Amino acid sequence: MLYKMTGGRPLSGDVYISGAKNAALGIMPAAIMASEPVTIENLPDVRDIRVLLDAMVEIGVTVERADAHTVKIDGSTVNKVRVDNEHIRRIRAGYYLLGALLGKYHHAEVALPGGCNIGARPIDQHLKGFRALGAKAEVENGIVIVDAENLHGGHIYLDVVSVGATINVMLAAVLAPGNTIIENAAKEPHVVDIANMLNKMGAAIRGAGTDVIKIRGVERLKGTQYPVIPDQIEAGTFMFAAAITQGKITVHNIIPQHMDAISSKLIEMGCEITEYDEDITVTGKSHLRPCNVKTLPYPGFPTDMQPQICVALSKARGRGIVTESIFENRFRYVDELLKMGAHIKIEGNKATVDGVERIKGADLIAPDLRAGAALVLAGLGAEGTTTVDNIEYIMRGYESFDEKLRRIGADIEIVPGASDSTESEIG
Ligand code: EPZ
Repeated sequence: MLYKMTGGRPLSGDVYISGAKNAALGIMPAAIMASEPVTIENLPDVRDIRVLLDAMVEIGVTVERADAHTVKIDGSTVNKVRVDNEHIRRIRAGYYLLGALLGKYHHAEVALPGGCNIGARPIDQHLKGFRALGAKAEVENGIVIVDAENLHGGHIYLDVVSVGATINVMLAAVLAPGNTIIENAAKEPHVVDIANMLNKMGAAIRGAGTDVIKIRGVERLKGTQYPVIPDQIEAGTFMFAAAITQGKITVHNIIPQHMDAISSKLIEMGCEITEYDEDITVTGKSHLRPCNVKTLPYPGFPTDMQPQICVALSKARGRGIVTESIFENRFRYVDELLKMGAHIKIEGNKATVDGVERIKGADLIAPDLRAGAALVLAGLGAEGTTTVDNIEYIMRGYESFDEKLRRIGADIEIVPGASDSTESEIG
């Protein structure tokens, strides 16, 4: 399937932001650790969530979908601790089942995330964390096997700030007797959300959102009801849509504080930002100013917003430099922007973007989720018609993307196409 769009219209209106995909992907495995059912609300209705739910059903978890955004998960029915199917190999977050199952059942076998397309993405820090909790952790024939006769608290210093490793170690540690300390922990909003949810289930986690997380192991986790936080990256993507199309967009149901780094860059580029309690309005101006940006762990500028700002810089007046410091292979979409007449030069982890007067419609291929969404924004800000192929990627992380865009005036539709996305791992 392809998105086909005609650009040039300023996008204006209201967008309601869905629950955060990357928080939900940790919250669902956390839920299976409870001895009672857990109800998760504000779940985004996207593919990665459905894949993880299906994998959980395969190991015996009882999953009741009350509606598209609410699910009741009962982990007390788990009857298998081996997770391996072709779909789970394609999503990154399958590995949270390692931490959750290790924590609860002291043994887990989960297929390693498959082919990568934004970088090497090793999981050494996850394994180092599990080992510090007393587990054996090995990779055999593409399956990660973790086992602990005697899981206990431990002291872990993460050598790199890793969202995945922080969450995974937190999951494994909440039921482990004794105290665990995670140093150099990731501070992303979804790390905090998963900690809050675990605490609501009876865990004792302190410090999530700072770089030292302290966990006191508890004996059991109880059922709860928990709403997932809003998606920072979906909100940021729509905020950049206002900048790129010179429109005026209000994103609703968000936590403005999570958007600080993104809002600051938009202000630097000349957009007007108005913040409310749970909403932000972005007014794009006729000329964008260039800026330099470096992706960093939270509270820095998110790597998941790097392609979107690069598209905006392609339309700015002057030169901006984008430095990608998290993933080494995250500029694959640049070749697509060049087809539209953008001027971008890549050297190592730096993109030098010289803004051009206009970009033109072209036939593009989405290389991954966030880059795919950014190419759609480029198409909507370009002259003429653009198609974006491989939209399966975009559907993995953006709920009703085309529908939300149409509601703010975009001329975009899904058309059948030659898409044969290999759907390698992206999340
Ligand atoms: C999460 O990936 C997100 N995925 C990514 O979102 C996001 O880009 C990334 O965090 C950074 O914010 C999910 O939450 C499912 P990391 P994750 O571990 O956890 C290195 C999207 O589009 N590293 O924080 O895999 C790693 O190579 C996706 O929604 C190790 O060296 O990211 C990278 O350079 C794409 N060893 C850096 O750390 C490890 O054991 C940060 O990765 C783990 C990571």
